[in-house]
Amino acid sequence: MNPQKKVRVQTLLEKKQAGEKIVAITAYDYPTALLVDEAGVDMVLVGDSVGNVVLGYESTLPVTMEEMRHHVRAVRRGIKNALLVADMPFLSYQSSVAQAIENAGLFIKDGAEAVKLEGGTPSIVQIVRALVDVGIPVVGHLGFTPQWIHQFGGIRVRGRRSDEAKRLIDMAHALQDAGCFAIVLELVPEEVAAIITERLNIPTIGIGAGAHCDGQILVLHDLIGMFPGWSPRHAKRYAEVGELIRHAVATYAQEVREGKFPTTEHSTKMAQEELERLKQLLRSE
Ligand code: KIV
Repeated sequence: MNPQKKVRVQTLLEKKQAGEKIVAITAYDYPTALLVDEAGVDMVLVGDSVGNVVLGYESTLPVTMEEMRHHVRAVRRGIKNALLVADMPFLSYQSSVAQAIENAGLFIKDGAEAVKLEGGTPSIVQIVRALVDVGIPVVGHLGFTPQWIHQFGGIRVRGRRSDEAKRLIDMAHALQDAGCFAIVLELVPEEVAAIITERLNIPTIGIGAGAHCDGQILVLHDLIGMFPGWSPRHAKRYAEVGELIRHAVATYAQEVREGKFPTTEHSTKMAQEELERLKQLLRSE
């Protein structure tokens, strides 16, 4: 176990200044929140990826505020040290500044310490500025931003072409100027991520954006191999938890069918005299 101190927004900025890598991961429920916090990560994101990896949606677009709040509250109960960031789902912040403040505020009431939102266009930058203005810390998110999947025409690396890369760099500066305290870079060529990381004062946290970012984030289910046989190219599988679960449940099913479970070890016995009394009671009925 890692005897960690409470991580705050400022801790991440200090880590960038000290050249220390930031470790972030997603979590969506109480037991995994306990585990990732105990493992000593710096930041836990309740990502709208909950839609894909927990709720079974094909994209993050259907995820609602109610669904996100349910998961944010569960994760809050499991986390002591890591910085807890809530992901703002599609259409919870894009309609107006007032809508964004209202919904981000609900996450803060639920125990999140910051929110993350996607994009770096002028209207998103305006929303970031308004949130920071009322005291809500914001993580930006650039590159392949899954809520923009239809606009982008699918899951693609963003910034391969120089003009697109330049737009990303400009958006990163705009988000920093608006008050973001960190920016997630997703599916961006490593050279572009390196330039952004070098130019910004705030930390970059990469996912599929190479080794030069100030930190890394992975979706927990990709890292632990929750879906046997599949993981995105940018994710490294550190375990085969899905395979372990499947094997455990198949063994349980087999043992139940063969009468091998439960044994006396997993059962309770009555005291002999109580059993005798019960038999007597039944006989005298
Ligand atoms: O929703 C999510 O899990 C994310 C990460 C991929 C950064 O946004």
